[in-house]
Amino acid sequence: MTKRSTVRDIGRRKEEGEPLVCLTAYTAPMARLADEYADILLVGDSVGMVLYGMESTLPVTLDMMIAHGKAVASHTEQAFVVLDMPFASYQESPELAFRNAARVMKETGCGAVKLEGGQEMAETVSFLVQRGVPVMGHIGLQPQSVNSVGGYRVTGKKDTEKNKIRADADSLVDAGVFAIVLECLDAELAAEITTKIPVPTIGIGASPACNGQILVTEDLLGISGKYIPLFVKKYADLGTQIRDAVAQYAEDVRKRKFPGQEHVYGRKNTDQLTSVK
Ligand code: KIV
Repeated sequence: MTKRSTVRDIGRRKEEGEPLVCLTAYTAPMARLADEYADILLVGDSVGMVLYGMESTLPVTLDMMIAHGKAVASHTEQAFVVLDMPFASYQESPELAFRNAARVMKETGCGAVKLEGGQEMAETVSFLVQRGVPVMGHIGLQPQSVNSVGGYRVTGKKDTEKNKIRADADSLVDAGVFAIVLECLDAELAAEITTKIPVPTIGIGASPACNGQILVTEDLLGISGKYIPLFVKKYADLGTQIRDAVAQYAEDVRKRKFPGQEHVYGRKNTDQLTSVK
């Protein structure tokens, strides 16, 4: 039986200089397919946009995340599964964050939570870590703050912003995170932070120098929405394959080519059925 990765294995990979392969997974089938290849599977709150067609991640609820977290954790054996705390489930106070994170850990079987924010979240991170909840940080572009920053954009270009992001990374490390996601961050700054901090950085639109990379799995498979960010590499065009398969099925049903004899129970001569109205 394969052993599931732990936070210690994740940390060791930085020391060994071995890149961490990270992907999102929201469902049992995707989790099963990715488990063998991913070091970390993130049940991201991007589920709201990718699977539910929401405009942002803000409407995603803790109950939704718990349902998806259960599906992913219970259908994987190897990858370390991290679950995104959704908007408003942790920002209010360390106590609320702990209550909600404890529900995640008890009800899903996930190994850690991720939350967005830097210095302002350090007290909360430390509160969780000291009480047995491993936390992954997330700085740079923080999609849950899209309304206060006025959109999705690359961060860390100006000096003031650079200094804030450096301080964010340091305070998360001091608070005890086991890894930090750097999203849509100036590449040089991402490389500098990666060199300076002792925990792995996981880049998305950041830098090849990060200790690991993460992508939304549906983006790399070509089955997410119309807008594909510059940092996404499409490894497959499953969207086209799915459309072709569905079109073929529709044609077969309309022409009574499906189901064929091999797909029906008992009765072997389907010709007799073709004229039934
Ligand atoms: O929700 C998500 O998928 C994420 C990744 C993009 C890092 O937070």
